[in-house]
Amino acid sequence: MCGIVGYLGDKEAAPILLSGLRRLEYRGYDSAGIAVANGAPSTVLRRRGKLAELERLVATETPHGNVGIGHTRWATHGRPSDENAHPHKVGGVSLVHNGIIENHVDLRRRLQGEARVFKSETDTEIVAHLVDRALRDGAPTLIEAVRMALSEVRGAYAIVVMSDDHPEQIVAAKNASPLVLGIGESETFLASDVPALLEHTRDVLFLEEGEIVEITRGGVRVERMDGRVVERSPRRIEWDAAQAEKGGYPHFMLKEIHEQPRAIADTLRGRLDVEGGDASIGTFDADAGRLRRVVLLACGTSYHAGLVGKFLIEGLAGIPAEVDLASEFRYRDPVIGPDDLVVGISQSGETADTLAAIKEARSRGARALAISNVVDSAIARASDGALYTYAGPEIGVASTKCFTAQLAALALLALHLGRRTGKLSLEAGRAFASELQQIPAKMERVLAVSGDLSDVAQRSASVSDVLFLGRGVNYPIALEGALKLKEISYIHAEGYAAGEMKHGPIALIDDGMPVVVIAPMGPSYEKVLSNLAEVKARDGRIIAVATEGDKHLRSVSDVVLSVPDAPPLLQPLLTVVPLQILAYSVAVAKGNDVDQPRNLAKSVTVE
Ligand code: BG6
Repeated sequence: MCGIVGYLGDKEAAPILLSGLRRLEYRGYDSAGIAVANGAPSTVLRRRGKLAELERLVATETPHGNVGIGHTRWATHGRPSDENAHPHKVGGVSLVHNGIIENHVDLRRRLQGEARVFKSETDTEIVAHLVDRALRDGAPTLIEAVRMALSEVRGAYAIVVMSDDHPEQIVAAKNASPLVLGIGESETFLASDVPALLEHTRDVLFLEEGEIVEITRGGVRVERMDGRVVERSPRRIEWDAAQAEKGGYPHFMLKEIHEQPRAIADTLRGRLDVEGGDASIGTFDADAGRLRRVVLLACGTSYHAGLVGKFLIEGLAGIPAEVDLASEFRYRDPVIGPDDLVVGISQSGETADTLAAIKEARSRGARALAISNVVDSAIARASDGALYTYAGPEIGVASTKCFTAQLAALALLALHLGRRTGKLSLEAGRAFASELQQIPAKMERVLAVSGDLSDVAQRSASVSDVLFLGRGVNYPIALEGALKLKEISYIHAEGYAAGEMKHGPIALIDDGMPVVVIAPMGPSYEKVLSNLAEVKARDGRIIAVATEGDKHLRSVSDVVLSVPDAPPLLQPLLTVVPLQILAYSVAVAKGNDVDQPRNLAKSVTVE
């Protein structure tokens, strides 16, 4: 998830590009760049680091011109660096991109076979080479060259392109990544999102899937990839800039909850092989056949992802898996060695306890794989390999989309290991892979049905304690649901294994205590029902997370939050969503600062 901007008009492009990027920095902020043309070869300026670094460079080497493109990056392929920053210029072609090119390895090999030289590690530079090649092969127009290039590309992209041989025009195309045009008086703006446009115009044109656009001084021409012209009039946006950064949502947390289907789809993209019943985890060789044990290390919400990971790895690969709090592991003189694989899970990739725990494990001979949402983060650098989640920057302190993206990454890892230990047959692998592929669509359904829990929230906002119960793979979701409520509503909440309830916490239950029971259909459904009956018998108020259409649970619960059916190992990706929304709604009902709750930090980089 990067931020893209473009401009063609009568004003100086550089300041417009920079202010647009400033408005999009929430989409990515590890490096940035602009390219500006003035009827001559474009000038490209790029810098690693926050946008301020680029602004300093532009202040000393100000490029002049009325046509330009810009980019602020959230690295996916290639660490943050000046060389990997966008725009990428190949020949006379300057290009910025947001998304993931799935077949980048194959395309790079082919282009290198044609003696093309790469200056970066990115998947993006490949597209610039393909456009440059199409132009050299005689493509009559820039839009035709871009069309030819994209016909070889598989994946998600929003790209914006300029060419020195075709001055005074910009071409852009969109597939599964956002791109919007701002229509002004004799000027046109482009951006990944509305915030970058609002200071210039409120008339916007959203590009749809598979559309390509040519922008000249004569105006805007939108076409389908097959060349058919698309007629669409601009929409008027009434949001203010702050609202726009949140995509019209009142808080980043709610926006990020709704971004989960895309975060999962992007994390699976180019890695899940449904036909082969397998998953790729990049260049890291887990050496599954030799593994004695997998040890998952993390803190906070990432620790709860680790607990689900244990079920996935043992269930699909048959390899013993342990989960440990990183802050405990590092001081426990752990028994660990060369036949163990440590998986360090961290959204930020900077959490001090997790980093130290990984270093401790490696110093004892174990190999380490990092699961992180930040490319080249400290934890990734301290590990032998990294399996990145592609959720995009997470602004809300309470983690949501990065949690479910971690579950998707752990599912990929478990599938990969399962096919290599032989625990998982081709057929079983195919079945699991196909179920995993359906998760983004099922999440959309959960978001559609449990979008508004303000009613339940109002009734729960004044309670002082809440109990969350779950069994098996949903026990970690009970813990996560409780943590979300604690983090942002400041209500004391406890997640508990449902089977354990009668050995203690049942003493807390009375008619004032909401009890959230995670009870989707599955192997422990009957057992959870009996726990639910124990709560009911003590007048506890039941909020149940149930499989769609479960009439029995509806009859015994005060509130039902429905999720589509899914195989037990994948249920956590769905059952957690209503709990995120519940916590969010209670915090809003209490008037709390949802995105920046008290006493918490997004990442704790000190002990
Ligand atoms: C805390 C955050 O500081 O760190 C939590 O508030 C997070 O949301 C935890 O789960 C672990 O962070 P990370 O980046 O290592 O996953």
